[in-house]
Amino acid sequence: MRLRVLAHPDSSSTLRPVMGPRGLPMSAARQLRSDPARLATSLRARVGDISFVSALGRDIVIAQGPDAAAELLRDADRAYANGPVYGFALGSVFERGILLMDAPDHRRHRRLMQQAFTAARLDGYQQRLNDLIRSRVAGFGTGSGVDMRAELKALALDVALDIFVGERLPQPEADRLNRAFVELIEAGGALVRLPIPGTAHFRGRHARRVVDEMFAELIPRRRREPGTDLMSALCQACEADGRQLSDAQIVDHMRFMLFAAHDTATIAMTSMTYQLGRHPQWRERVRAQAFSLSDAPSAAELRESAAMDSVFKEAVRLRPPVPVIPRAAVKDTELGGHFIPKGTFVVVVTGSNHRLPEIWPDPDSFLPDRFDGDTTRHRMAWMPFGGGAHMCIGMHFAYLESATVVHHMLRHLDWTVASDAYEREDTALTDNIGFAAEVSRLSPA
Ligand code: HEM
Repeated sequence: MRLRVLAHPDSSSTLRPVMGPRGLPMSAARQLRSDPARLATSLRARVGDISFVSALGRDIVIAQGPDAAAELLRDADRAYANGPVYGFALGSVFERGILLMDAPDHRRHRRLMQQAFTAARLDGYQQRLNDLIRSRVAGFGTGSGVDMRAELKALALDVALDIFVGERLPQPEADRLNRAFVELIEAGGALVRLPIPGTAHFRGRHARRVVDEMFAELIPRRRREPGTDLMSALCQACEADGRQLSDAQIVDHMRFMLFAAHDTATIAMTSMTYQLGRHPQWRERVRAQAFSLSDAPSAAELRESAAMDSVFKEAVRLRPPVPVIPRAAVKDTELGGHFIPKGTFVVVVTGSNHRLPEIWPDPDSFLPDRFDGDTTRHRMAWMPFGGGAHMCIGMHFAYLESATVVHHMLRHLDWTVASDAYEREDTALTDNIGFAAEVSRLSPA
């Protein structure tokens, strides 16, 4: 492979330049979008932990391995920002979302939003999750060829409406909002960001108006009569000096949260139920734990369910819902001893980090026991929720949602998955595909 230099450091510097392959930018752009894990793995083998490609008119550094991921995301030198890179990636639909913010605004908004994720708040959400999910699982399709991802995606939308927004709406109204939610979420992944009729972005802009109006209408009521939903928590959140989020800020955060929570949780649950459908011994192990608890497990009980926890971790190791985490260098800096010039985009590719053979023996196999009592692994070896200041604020909620769904499914259903196409066809870890399951209802004990 012929290599080229990203930028030369000062002659007095001990830093090394980042190297990357010579090649056509369009092919790198295509690979970065369609198969980032394979691109990162091949660059690591040929160039090392820090390399770069040119794509979409930019030079993009790829940081591999837990040390580089930790250095980038912890950002001790305050050299990286989210605004420029997520503004570019998420367009105008999610402007002012917390992930697009940088210090000091980010710190203030994060402190306020954190109040929606305290242990007491999570206990409240857990009660709602149990009620909602128990009744929805009772209506899951049975027989052969059940599209499990479709069931889980619909369920995740119901969770958003009930636990985030706190509404149980009449069906036509719920359907209208769910359609708007879906269009909004799809706009986040849309490549074309011009408001041209027919594009995902255009539909997303329209959906944004529908969703924003609904949030704005509800805020005065949530401020007056708060409930146990997430929006009420944001309406009540307060700084030491009494300052609160404005109505417009709550709308922005709710809209972004909906986006951040939906596909990610759907992918995590899809991966868990796929793996359980393929591994009967794990299905029975987690089922035994589910039956040792009640049909309304508490957040603490689910957190202490060791088998459930290991299955969740292994399922998102193999299929991380966020395959790439990007940052933009806002000044000249260094990463892993390499010179990073101001303006460079740097990405960590979670999918390839999660399969480094020196950290994860037999990396492609589903082996939840690898998390049992594990204390020696690098803290950033398993990194589906990122790290540093922007680490996923909904991490504990995401586990509770996924574990509650699997808990109720295992108490009422059995399922098997005959084909491994889900894994074979999504090696890129970027297609949100599903699988067909053979589902039956357990006879009542
Ligand atoms: C398994 C499911 C999930 C995964 C794998 C996941 C992953 C991530 C990752 C990797 C980031 C950091 C991105 C970065 O640093 O650039 C992030 C941020 C975020 N996530 Fe999640 N997420 C999940 C579910 C959720 C849920 C359920 C919520 C809300 C309840 C949520 C809300 C957020 C928010 C608000 C941020 C931005 C935090 C900030 O900028 O300070 N996520 N998530």
